Amino acid sequence: MKTALVTGGAARIGAQIAKTLHDNNFKIIIHCNESLEKAEILSEKLNSKRKNTVEVVSGNLNSIDSIKSIVDSIDSLDLLVNNASVFYPKSVEDSDIKVWDEVLNVNLRAPFFLSRGLSEKLSSTSGSIINIIDIHSERPLKNHAVYNISKAGLKMMTQTLAKELAPSVRVNGVSPGSILWPEASAEISDLEKKLMLERIALNKQGSPQDIADTVLFLANSEYITGQIINIDGGRTLNQ
Ligand SMILES: NC(=O)c1ccc[n+]([C@@H]2O[C@H](COP(=O)([O-])OP(=O)(O)OC[C@H]3O[C@@H](n4cnc5c(N)ncnc54)[C@H](OP(=O)(O)O)[C@@H]3O)[C@@H](O)[C@H]2O)c1
Repeated sequence: MKTALVTGGAARIGAQIAKTLHDNNFKIIIHCNESLEKAEILSEKLNSKRKNTVEVVSGNLNSIDSIKSIVDSIDSLDLLVNNASVFYPKSVEDSDIKVWDEVLNVNLRAPFFLSRGLSEKLSSTSGSIINIIDIHSERPLKNHAVYNISKAGLKMMTQTLAKELAPSVRVNGVSPGSILWPEASAEISDLEKKLMLERIALNKQGSPQDIADTVLFLANSEYITGQIINIDGGRTLNQ
């Protein structure tokens, strides 16, 4: 049975990726930070389907020490899904060093050092890495400067690692368009939602399952590396 680590795997898109991989016979390590309770509920649910197939690790990906302890806690790995991310609106004017550090650390530094720390283990299983990027890695979303920069970096990281870790580890990316509306401080108005949907060729949001299915496809595609697939309902046709 193969093992996958899904960062930010307790809720929303990450949880759907974890469930889908588990349904397809992976053992899962659910990483979480604040959503420990959700992670434990999900883990219990999946373990009741197949005993001892899910465990939970927690850690703040803003901290290099927690990244190291996550890496050290893993014995063997076939798939790393770098899904965790921070997303909230900040103009350039309001993007101070604290914002820069948090967004870059979680969205870019953590995937890099998790990949680097786990690359030997992935290499010994001929495993792969899948980074969850964003279509805004290509064209910027207004008021999200540092987020856009972090995701553009993650796109380049995907290609760079694909080249450098080949032939023993494959590295690919999935770039979602609009899948789930942002929550809390990143929430948007009904008008903004309507305008966003009008620019999607298929006129609707995608679902977390659309992302999870693509992750599963890439995980099983042994001759694909260095690729990034947009799952955006044709949103990029109208960007
Ligand atoms: N939602 C969309 O429509 C959309 C669109 C484009 C791209 N994406 C990308 O798809 C991925 C999943 O999207 P989502 O909307 O499901 O993400 P999300 O809910 O915004 O965040 C996913 C998880 O990231 C974790 N996280 C945040 N800060 C962390 C930190 N400091 N340390 C450790 N973990 C941290 C959180 O885990 P805890 O809850 O455990 O703290 C959170 O549950 C992200 O990479 C996102 O950028 C999503």
